[in-house]
Amino acid sequence: MIVSRRTASHAFFSSKVETWITDAVADGIADYTGLLRRLPGVYPTELLASLERLAASRAIDPALYATARQEAKPVSPSGAEGRSLLPLPHPLDYEWRFTADASRALLNHAADLTPDGSEVLLFGTPGLAAEALTLPISRRMSLLVEPNSVTDRLVALNRATGSPLAIAFCSGGLPRDSADAVLLDPPWYLDFVRPMLTAAAHACRLGGFVLISLPPDGARPTAATDRQAAITLAKRLGLTLVERQPLSIAYETPFFERNALRAAGIATPPQWRRGDLLVFQRVAAPCLPAPHSHRRRLWAEVVIGRMRLFISMGANADNGDADLVSIVAGDVLPSVSRRDPRRSSANVWTSGNRVFRTNNPQLLLEAAISCAGEAMGSGFQPWLWGTLRGGEAIERVAAELRDLAALEAAEETGAPAETERSAVWRLSTTISSTGSTAIRSG
Ligand SMILES: C[S@@+](CC[C@H](N)C(=O)[O-])C[C@H]1O[C@@H](n2cnc3c(N)ncnc32)[C@H](O)[C@@H]1O
Repeated sequence: MIVSRRTASHAFFSSKVETWITDAVADGIADYTGLLRRLPGVYPTELLASLERLAASRAIDPALYATARQEAKPVSPSGAEGRSLLPLPHPLDYEWRFTADASRALLNHAADLTPDGSEVLLFGTPGLAAEALTLPISRRMSLLVEPNSVTDRLVALNRATGSPLAIAFCSGGLPRDSADAVLLDPPWYLDFVRPMLTAAAHACRLGGFVLISLPPDGARPTAATDRQAAITLAKRLGLTLVERQPLSIAYETPFFERNALRAAGIATPPQWRRGDLLVFQRVAAPCLPAPHSHRRRLWAEVVIGRMRLFISMGANADNGDADLVSIVAGDVLPSVSRRDPRRSSANVWTSGNRVFRTNNPQLLLEAAISCAGEAMGSGFQPWLWGTLRGGEAIERVAAELRDLAALEAAEETGAPAETERSAVWRLSTTISSTGSTAIRSG
């Protein structure tokens, strides 16, 4: 029988997870929360599946699985964790934010490695930047980010606090040989880690430090080899590993992930996810050229109330109905993995991990902008949409979007939502950019 390399590596990983679990159980840790915290970043669904297998084979007491399953049952809507100064993280940005404590620890770590008055670059870390704005740090701080509504809010917060951060977009060119420390947290995929680590090495001066968060061993089957690939790349970039602190960086569970897990029938304890901190020192010139580190923009973003709506303006639109077509039962994608095949069907995505298909992204975008414009006193104006039918279509879709935003706002506060896609109250709405143009990202 031929077994694919991927299946074999997953089987090997599953047996590793089972060993971690039996070791933890032998140490007296037998509850879902305790196991999630003890294991090295194993995803909750993977943990429960492993417990089920172990119980079925009597390698653990089946009562232990039954209790863990019970403990993992969601009791109420998702709720949100963490800082609220920034807009919600969006799954298409892979935005897992550090806890406030982890942010402070990272900033202190960078400060310990660098002299007073030196330059610290925050790269792809909007949550960390928001935390930095609240702290007295005797370093020159700069931030390199993507253009989106989170960055818009950071720009406003920065201005309100006397502009301690120099904020720049990664699309506008990368700094060279200037930072004494670079803190970065790329999405945990090698196609993000490689260009961002390369850009960080180029931005760092000789003798400076690069601090990066990478997935721990249990995060996925390839986590350990991916980390090794990053270390090997770092060597070619003139970076030498000086420190590794496994599982030392705690993350908030974003609203989109809480929703995804709830849709999968699972609740999570707060802040279960952790990353490994790796600290490199730049000891030589990079052997690889500086990359274009910015992503191609495929998605337009419109903010309606608290909901961030991403719409793909790709070429596959047929200019039919703009209505939101369900792709998955209940509309919330019950996974946050980039490998989930259902992702490719979606061209509309909310910050609550709801996914849809529309046959007319342009019309949907216009409806979203009209919802967002209401807060600025320039709401829906049907006569601007040529035909009466066009105006009615926009109005119908806009009502659907308002309902969605209301539903997700209720979930975010942990309030029981009435019925899916049928909330009746209206929201105050904002658009994420100045004026009425939507922001493209992704
Ligand atoms: C895992 S999150 C890191 C957030 C961080 N933990 C925090 O609390 O601030 C990854 C971030 O990388 C950003 N990102 C992705 N590609 C980027 C690029 N080429 N340049 C700058 N930021 C990027 C995403 O927008 C997202 O905010």
